[in-house]
Amino acid sequence: MAGTTSDSGTRRDFIYVASGAMGALAVGAVAWPLVQQMNPSAAALALATTELDIGTIQPGQQVIIKHRGQPLFVRRRTPTEIKSAQSVNVASLPDGLARNAGKDAALPASDENRVIKTEWLVVSGVCTHLGCTPAVSTAAVLQGAHGGWLCHCHGSDYDTSGRIRSGPAPENLAVPVYSFMSDTRIQVG
Ligand code: FES
Repeated sequence: MAGTTSDSGTRRDFIYVASGAMGALAVGAVAWPLVQQMNPSAAALALATTELDIGTIQPGQQVIIKHRGQPLFVRRRTPTEIKSAQSVNVASLPDGLARNAGKDAALPASDENRVIKTEWLVVSGVCTHLGCTPAVSTAAVLQGAHGGWLCHCHGSDYDTSGRIRSGPAPENLAVPVYSFMSDTRIQVG
């Protein structure tokens, strides 16, 4: 199983696992109708944590998991993507805040302040404009001008750190609280 949760009342959170680039993880889709009936309360959802095995995700790939009812991007960045993210002048960004729930809310939006390990980017999959799910860039298909994500709803362009670079979205993609349980496993929440 690609992902699990620590709260049995919120097990539906791990069902929605999909690949953005080339498909790294198996999908537990067959369990969806069953766990959907468990109908966890909003309070339980708010407290849920989600665990994910990241050992099979290759550089340049991302997976999408569902955490607390929302899509979450987990992207293993290539050296080029990391370099691109780190080379940005933070003062030039439309949103200068890191938006990282795991760190001080007032920190600037440097790539360093948005990650724990540079290779891994974990960000919300919800566009900060009106809530669409942005499309990820791959080696084959570039989305937007910065190699990150493009929200096709109204053209918000995010870079390889999930920061808004152009378009109507007012904020960077939010970074949730998460931690590495091992080199190949993360816990979100
Ligand atoms: S919802 Fe993403 S650009 Fe409008």
